[in-house]
Amino acid sequence: MEVYRASGRLLGAKRVPQKVAMTEESKRERQFEAKIDLMRERIKDSDDLKVQDEVFDRRALMDLYALASKGVIASLGGAVSTGKEANIFRAKGENDKDLAVKIYRINTSNFKAMQNYLLGDPRFGSIKGTKRAVIIAWTRKEFRNLRRAEEVGVKVPHAIAMRENILVMEMVGDGETPAPQLKDVALEPKEAELAFEKIAEYVSILYNKGNLVHADLSEFNILYAEGEPVIIDMGQSVTREHPMARSFLERDISNLARHFGKKYGVGSEEAVKEKIRAGKEG
Ligand SMILES: Nc1ncnc2c1ncn2[C@@H]1O[C@H](COP(=O)(O)OP(=O)(O)OP(=O)(O)O)[C@@H](O)[C@H]1O
Ligand SMILES: [Mg+2]
Repeated sequence: MEVYRASGRLLGAKRVPQKVAMTEESKRERQFEAKIDLMRERIKDSDDLKVQDEVFDRRALMDLYALASKGVIASLGGAVSTGKEANIFRAKGENDKDLAVKIYRINTSNFKAMQNYLLGDPRFGSIKGTKRAVIIAWTRKEFRNLRRAEEVGVKVPHAIAMRENILVMEMVGDGETPAPQLKDVALEPKEAELAFEKIAEYVSILYNKGNLVHADLSEFNILYAEGEPVIIDMGQSVTREHPMARSFLERDISNLARHFGKKYGVGSEEAVKEKIRAGKEG
């Protein structure tokens, strides 16, 4: 409650007579409470309460409520994953569509590293300041990266909306069941070869047409759905202008070749580089 009162005053309530301001304030306060309760109700079958507490502070609840009012989210379900920086939840959207809601934790330990990724990116270079501002810029960055990847033809979850530290995207998988990560699937030799080729192609078009380097590409950040690889987790992806872009690209290529080489005996770094060269000309 304190939070709201303080901001209510800051927003200019001091100019109106005290009595009116109080009435207006308590009205808004009641509405605020109702919104929070509604959102809490929507977060029904979330299994891990501790996880909830960590991300569902009042602000997050308000932002979720705003997304719900816009019709982006109809209900929020259980946790899909609790990563280093973000928690992913199932949700339902318009027409019962299955969604994944990624909520970046404001108190992430990686906040310093995040700043470095943002600094070299001409789109976000001037972001400084509070943890919150950095995390919000990071969320926006992931949203924009996913959109750009999709535009140039890389298979990624469609990014639907973002608000503050919350990113709403399409759920990759079968209904509410998220697709497995590449590390957890066992592909047939032919499938493995095709998957490698496809991902190498994605690295190339992302770089050549999207002007982006994924920068954390690995068997953890590639899902496998309906016989196809889907690239996820693009918060850290940087534009080619970033001073580290080249070495991030090298690392992505090496992770990709290592995984497919070790597990399936297919693919090579050179094969990915060849695709990138071909993509430059084509
Ligand atoms: N759109 C999606 N559809 C289905 N599953 C998803 C989606 N986005 C994320 N996931 C699942 O949640 C996990 C974590 O997501 P992501 O990699 O984007 O977050 P992260 O904060 O980087 O987590 P980590 O630190 O574990 O890498 C993914 O590995 C995947 O299993
Ligand atoms: Mg990840």
